[in-house]
Amino acid sequence: MVTVIEASGLTKQFGNTTAVDNVTLSVPQGALFGLLGPNGSGKTTMIKMLTGQIRPTTGMATVLGLDVVNDPVGVRKLVGIIPEQETPPSFLSAMEYLAFVGAVRKIPDIEEKAAWWFSFLEFEDKRDVLCKDLSRGTRQKLMFAQAFLHKPVLALIDEPLINFDPIMQRKVKGYLADYVKSGGTIFISTHILEIAEEICSGFAILHNGKLLYSGAISELSGKKQHLSEFFFSQVQI
Ligand SMILES: Nc1ncnc2c1ncn2[C@@H]1O[C@H](COP(=O)(O)OP(=O)(O)OP(=O)(O)O)[C@@H](O)[C@H]1O
Ligand SMILES: [Mg+2]
Repeated sequence: MVTVIEASGLTKQFGNTTAVDNVTLSVPQGALFGLLGPNGSGKTTMIKMLTGQIRPTTGMATVLGLDVVNDPVGVRKLVGIIPEQETPPSFLSAMEYLAFVGAVRKIPDIEEKAAWWFSFLEFEDKRDVLCKDLSRGTRQKLMFAQAFLHKPVLALIDEPLINFDPIMQRKVKGYLADYVKSGGTIFISTHILEIAEEICSGFAILHNGKLLYSGAISELSGKKQHLSEFFFSQVQI
């Protein structure tokens, strides 16, 4: 089994706050791995460390075999990222933004690939609209497209579905499920437990920065529990 994410004792301290507390976690290739946890439990901080955007205070992690501290640029070249609640640059049109990402990532045939995404996520009519004038959901479509434009072997996506309507959620869920079937790996942070239960193969629960649980979704059927029941029992709400 090939492991694509390996975190060991990963910890991030912001002043007196321990945002991520000694987390050891591994994610195999081909997983659709859900990172769950209440607000402020450390999910975004975890994703930022795994994508080399912030340095761990202690501990270490490798992503696709690269050390996130020693080679953050190498990691970011390989992976796709949807940051939490980030929006594309206001002054570029939707197409200009994808062309920009395509240039940075040296993606060939960018017009063609962008056209596929405009069609798949049903926003062809917004191709030349400035990002500042796009609806929140449409900006999220664009963020989704940019993350998968270079068909990364691993995508780390932070709450990517929350702004999508049910039709779009269904479409994107299908995309993610197919993505891992064809060998890709997805690491997704989400509050939507029903979606996690439906599409994830494995999951972890963070609470106050600590890893409460990590396992396969299939283990829940052995416990005859839905993910939401299990989640609440773990975080003791
Ligand atoms: N740059 C920062 N400076 C100080 N504290 C921070 C910083 N980033 C995050 N934190 C703190 O770290 C903790 C974890 O935050 P994080 O954003 O990782 O949580 P989260 O699980 O993603 O929450 P949410 O579900 O609300 O997105 C919180 O207490 C937060 O206030
Ligand atoms: Mg977050």
